Amino acid sequence: MSQTENSNTANTKEGNVLPAEKKSKPGKNLNKSNSSMNKNKSKGPDSPKSESLRKGIVNTRNRTKGSVRPEKSRVCTTLDLLKLKGKRKIVGLTAYDALFGKLVSDSGVDFILVGDSVGTTLLGYDTTIPVTINDMIHHTAAVRRSNPKCLLVADLPFGEASLSFDRLLESARALLQKGGADAVKIEGGRDVADDIEKLVLTGIPVMGHIGLLPQTVKSIGGYRKFGKEKEEAESLYKDAISLEEAGCFAVIAEMMESAVASELAKQILPPLIGIGSGGACDGQILVTPDLLGLSNFEIPSFVKPRMNLNQEISNVLSEYVSDIKNFKEGRNR
Ligand code: KIV
Repeated sequence: MSQTENSNTANTKEGNVLPAEKKSKPGKNLNKSNSSMNKNKSKGPDSPKSESLRKGIVNTRNRTKGSVRPEKSRVCTTLDLLKLKGKRKIVGLTAYDALFGKLVSDSGVDFILVGDSVGTTLLGYDTTIPVTINDMIHHTAAVRRSNPKCLLVADLPFGEASLSFDRLLESARALLQKGGADAVKIEGGRDVADDIEKLVLTGIPVMGHIGLLPQTVKSIGGYRKFGKEKEEAESLYKDAISLEEAGCFAVIAEMMESAVASELAKQILPPLIGIGSGGACDGQILVTPDLLGLSNFEIPSFVKPRMNLNQEISNVLSEYVSDIKNFKEGRNR
């Protein structure tokens, strides 16, 4: 993945646009529900008390015969993910069913996203817009049944964040309670930040998503890169800050100019996870079928598929069909 990085400021077509130092107070509400990284150490996640509490929980689990314990090094909570920022790159992949839930979890990812990309990858839609909350619950529950050893994030589909806060809360709760998600992802920046803040306060961890928002494809008129123009880069900056302040534990940056994404990653406390936004983000996520070359659509130009699974599956299936059709009694199969 190519990227142009700049040390302190992000360069766009119209010059340096992002302030070298952030104006707002970093991480005002970050991880409110999980206790903040910024809070008083005696109360926070690094305090001796919470450390022993964590150990207590692990010890209790150890005593349960036959219980499945998460590997020590695996990311299982939003706080684990948050703490990876600045230590190593974070990696996420999508999954939509139990088969791929297990395969993806076994690869060692830090988180699985049950994306609304299920609509275009598996359900035959040409955008993510027709995907419903029931589709998302159904697919999230299937991935949860594969018992993934990492954080499981589910996408909030089109329209769910725009009717009312009650509707948003109900849908987000359903993804956790019926789907078994650990957290939800919501597309949008300043426009949804207030609602995200309220969700976080109810105990629902939220991953933000800025840059290209596939759910807005009908209004933006197609998929494109974001942040080239100064105004747009500044707007992305404001979005990222508002999501940090709302308490998002991570933010996806999709199809963003790499210099802008690189600068945003430095400016906000939650990890910025890129997709088509250059290599300087705190981590990367990809749509798994794109990575595998398994798609009915053209694979996005920023993805380099590692295999051509379309071709391989197609070869095996047609070979089998042909073998059966041409089967003659007495000949080896
Ligand atoms: O739905 C999805 O898979 C996503 C990723 C592209 C981040 O939102």
